[in-house]
Amino acid sequence: MVASILKTINLSKIYRRGKIKALTDVSLEFNDRGVLTLLGRNGAGKTTFLRVISTQLMPTSGKVFVLGYDVVKEAKAVRNNIAVMPQEGATLPPLTPWDHVYFTLRIKGISKNVAKEYTNDVLEKLDLMQYKDVHADRLSGGLRQRILVAMAMAYKARLLLLDEPTLGLDPLSRRKIWKIVREYCKNVGSVILTTHYLDEAEVLSDQVVILNNGKVLANGTVDELRNFVKEKVKIEVYSGFLFEELQSYGRLVPVADRLRVLTNEKTAQELVNEAIKRGARVQTSPITLDDVFVELSTEVEQE
Ligand SMILES: Nc1ncnc2c1ncn2[C@@H]1O[C@H](COP(=O)(O)OP(=O)(O)OP(=O)(O)O)[C@@H](O)[C@H]1O
Ligand SMILES: [Mg+2]
Repeated sequence: MVASILKTINLSKIYRRGKIKALTDVSLEFNDRGVLTLLGRNGAGKTTFLRVISTQLMPTSGKVFVLGYDVVKEAKAVRNNIAVMPQEGATLPPLTPWDHVYFTLRIKGISKNVAKEYTNDVLEKLDLMQYKDVHADRLSGGLRQRILVAMAMAYKARLLLLDEPTLGLDPLSRRKIWKIVREYCKNVGSVILTTHYLDEAEVLSDQVVILNNGKVLANGTVDELRNFVKEKVKIEVYSGFLFEELQSYGRLVPVADRLRVLTNEKTAQELVNEAIKRGARVQTSPITLDDVFVELSTEVEQE
């Protein structure tokens, strides 16, 4: 039997300082090779969760198995099989991208020749080759962020943990990381990542876990999570309708400069027809993870 990639049973973590309950009874399983994405508002417990599963923090209670190894009793075996990009990671100003990756691999015990090969390989993949000999303090923030991703990926661990890997990256660089993460899953191992970009989670994830206040709010595939919103379509209304009028078409969600109507396909069609008659600007699209996230987070806030 193939051991699961991650299994947590009633995992709780209390930070003694401040007596903060960062995780409460988190039980989840991630079995198939792929991408598991953790979502949640600031302070939801994502980084704490990654720190516990990567053996940097001891759980307060509960059990955690990574690749079948117990994170408390078999911490060394866990460490040998994972690579981590921490949220608070920083580059060292006098070192180049090449140094960062190469020395990380050497510290992990990789031989000189293999470390050279892996370093060139990952710098190439992340479009860092042209900067390979430039000191980190002369590189832009996004390039430095890519060095951190490269350092974690280079090791080719069976499980890669990335805490907000695309933070501050431009849209094209973000897409490049998505492609590389998918390739990693296909050729090397599984990935657990956190992000605040819901479009990214939607594109990348095989499984999504939404944390709120240290508890699991939702867990499933993107399609399964979409079912948390009962409507199937959303229409963004930019002009031509009054709030009261739109209420008869579905559920209204105010968004910055427009109104969002959540409804079924038939009513959406009626609203679009009416908008065409009036020359109003509207836009329809399916329900996204963004809608699910807003819906679930708002429900919890109102409780
Ligand atoms: N070292 C620590 N000592 C005490 N409390 C902590 C510590 N680290 C985190 N916390 C608290 O634990 C909770 C969870 O924090 P965590 O960093 O895991 O959240 P997060 O989901 O990663 O948030 P973000 O999206 O902002 O990165 C928060 O209330 C935070 O203030
Ligand atoms: Mg965090």
